[in-house]
Amino acid sequence: MTEPVTEYEPGDLRDVAAEAVPEDLDVENSLRPRRLAEFIGQPRVREQLELVLEGARRRGDPPDHILLSGPPGLGKTSLSMIVAAELGAAIRLTSGPALERAGDLAAMLSNLVPGDVLFIDEIHRIARPAEEMLYLAMEDFRVDVVVGKGPGATSIPLDIAPFTLVGATTRAGALTGPLRDRFGFTAHMEFYEPEELELVLKRAAVILDVDLKPDGAVEIARRSRGTPRIANRLLRRVRDFAEVRADGAVTRTVARDALAVYDVDELGLDRLDRAVLGALVRTFGGGPVGVSTLAVAVGEEPGTVEEVCEPYLVRAGMLARTPRGRVATPAAWSHLGLRPPESGGEVPPALF
Ligand SMILES: Nc1ncnc2c1ncn2[C@@H]1O[C@H](COP(=O)(O)OP(=O)(O)OP(=O)(O)O)[C@@H](O)[C@H]1O
Ligand SMILES: [Mg+2]
Repeated sequence: MTEPVTEYEPGDLRDVAAEAVPEDLDVENSLRPRRLAEFIGQPRVREQLELVLEGARRRGDPPDHILLSGPPGLGKTSLSMIVAAELGAAIRLTSGPALERAGDLAAMLSNLVPGDVLFIDEIHRIARPAEEMLYLAMEDFRVDVVVGKGPGATSIPLDIAPFTLVGATTRAGALTGPLRDRFGFTAHMEFYEPEELELVLKRAAVILDVDLKPDGAVEIARRSRGTPRIANRLLRRVRDFAEVRADGAVTRTVARDALAVYDVDELGLDRLDRAVLGALVRTFGGGPVGVSTLAVAVGEEPGTVEEVCEPYLVRAGMLARTPRGRVATPAAWSHLGLRPPESGGEVPPALF
């Protein structure tokens, strides 16, 4: 099908990265759904959360602590703010990396008022002493503040207000067992279906005042890698194109032409993805090849290829990770407009 239009340059900013870039942060706040009823997709998580919140509301207690896990850009931060909004509670925001010392957390905890929601983003990156303080806080709404050093140190127990911790993580597996066990409710966010992303796009188009036609929404949705953040970002790219090169309306044709300019192909692959697939197929005959070798071939860090590119290529059924290395699937060959070799034994089926 499509050949790369432009070659990949290492370090290129990626329009299809799931992680937020500074430009996203400005606009994301205005695009966040505010209430559970406005939150699109994730039907299981939404239903379960509704029950947890309603139950707590009826009892008049803060709900169980909530852990939200899943890949970047799927709505964890949005959902944590919704939890607070649905409870009519204030939300205090912090993150794992900001809680380097137990004292940082103690200060945060002792300032809570009853019913507050404490949101800890990237909770898997919390430092050990702060994590240990969190155990007692989550369980008994208490902290032990250690005063002094060495043999003279004393620990002063301090009551804190009953609160609900909402933790978010892109790496649930990196959480320690004791921390994970202290959450009463864990929600795993899934990638969105294209139809759900169409709804996300239509909602964003209303807020951003973009004339998005239904066929334009279909076109952007299927290139958005199952991720609302990417959908919203591509919508902004397409809007610019529609305003500058067309009459402002985002039709299917406008969306296609715009995303061709930004090198996002019909499956949502960009130059780096295609460079990786291209090297795998052309240079290494479809693999197997080690990730470091593959990374050198495209001039990127192995970590970037492994963490940024591969998850989606695997999910799209283009690349398989095998014990002997990376292997291109027949879908990868045909996506690059090439015929797969006759004997390709080692290829598991696509994951969607
Ligand atoms: N269900 C949804 N409905 C509508 N918009 C959504 C939904 N989920 C996410 N979004 C949009 O995607 C953006 C990113 O979502 P959010 O910041 O909540 O993701 P996240 O999971 O916290 O990502 P990260 O792991 O990078 O912190 C939001 O600003 C919002 O505009
Ligand atoms: Mg977030």
